[in-house]
Amino acid sequence: MNVKDWPLHSVIYTLSSLLFLFSHPLIAATLVNITVDDSGPDPITGARIAYSPSDAWSFGQDCTACTARPDPAQAFMRTWHDGTFNAVPGTTNDPNVVLNATFSFESFFVAGSAIYVYCILAHTSVSPDGNSDITFLIDGEAVGSFFQAPNNATNYGFNVPVYTNASIPSGNHTFTLQNGHVDGPKSLVLLDYIVYT
Ligand SMILES: *[C@@H]1O[C@H](CO)[C@@H](O)[C@H](O)[C@H]1NC(C)=O
Ligand SMILES: *[C@@H]1O[C@H](CO)[C@@H](O)[C@H](O)[C@H]1NC(C)=O
Ligand SMILES: *[C@@H]1O[C@H](CO)[C@@H](O)[C@H](O)[C@H]1NC(C)=O
Ligand SMILES: *[C@@H]1O[C@H](CO)[C@@H](O)[C@H](O)[C@H]1NC(C)=O
Ligand SMILES: *[C@@H]1O[C@H](CO)[C@@H](O)[C@H](O)[C@H]1NC(C)=O
Repeated sequence: MNVKDWPLHSVIYTLSSLLFLFSHPLIAATLVNITVDDSGPDPITGARIAYSPSDAWSFGQDCTACTARPDPAQAFMRTWHDGTFNAVPGTTNDPNVVLNATFSFESFFVAGSAIYVYCILAHTSVSPDGNSDITFLIDGEAVGSFFQAPNNATNYGFNVPVYTNASIPSGNHTFTLQNGHVDGPKSLVLLDYIVYT
């Protein structure tokens, strides 16, 4: 059946539904990627990434005590969050406490919703120890991990997608990045930004 054969009211209904979809700012915005800086608000919802324990995370670009010194010009918005998990007593403010970065978002598409998490990676094994031992949770369920030992290269890796998931169901979700495992190896996270659709 051609559109011209449709009853007028259903044509108007279809057009007004489309108009609603594209005029609704949240729905229109999800047609493109939304990038959330480690330090900034979600440009659509204003939500921010929450860091805990709060004294275990630093604003990396301003942190003089941090050994990781990547070039700010190569970081998204020139910022990142620096957190080190270390099981050894006395080494950090929170020895053997897993560090969390948590972000809540709403995806609208039944198919095609995605989340991408980007970190800066250090590859040295001392100052900083760039070992990565990261676990990812969505709505409290473990959905992935990222393990990488240093290869002793002196450069940093920028825009490294440590977690990607292109099959997020529509609705509200809580994403958690967990740095380290209780009694596990030392682990460094330099969180730069999260992208979702
Ligand atoms: C969103 O970003 C991802 C990762 O950079 C990319 O693969 C994808 O094509 C982008 N999607 C849109 C709708 O721009
Ligand atoms: C980190 O998240 C886990 C899982 O939700 C929780 O059990 C733990 O208490 C959190 N840790 C901190 C320091 O918030
Ligand atoms: C993506 O997220 C969904 C919803 O939490 C989960 O069921 C699925 O296992 C995840 N897939 C990947 C590849 O992480
Ligand atoms: C990196 O250097 C450390 C310390 O010198 C060494 O133990 C490790 O095997 C090296 N890793 C590689 C991949 O060469
Ligand atoms: C998601 O959460 C927001 C804020 O609490 C709420 O307004 C919205 O209705 C929720 N969406 C769904 C699909 O539950």
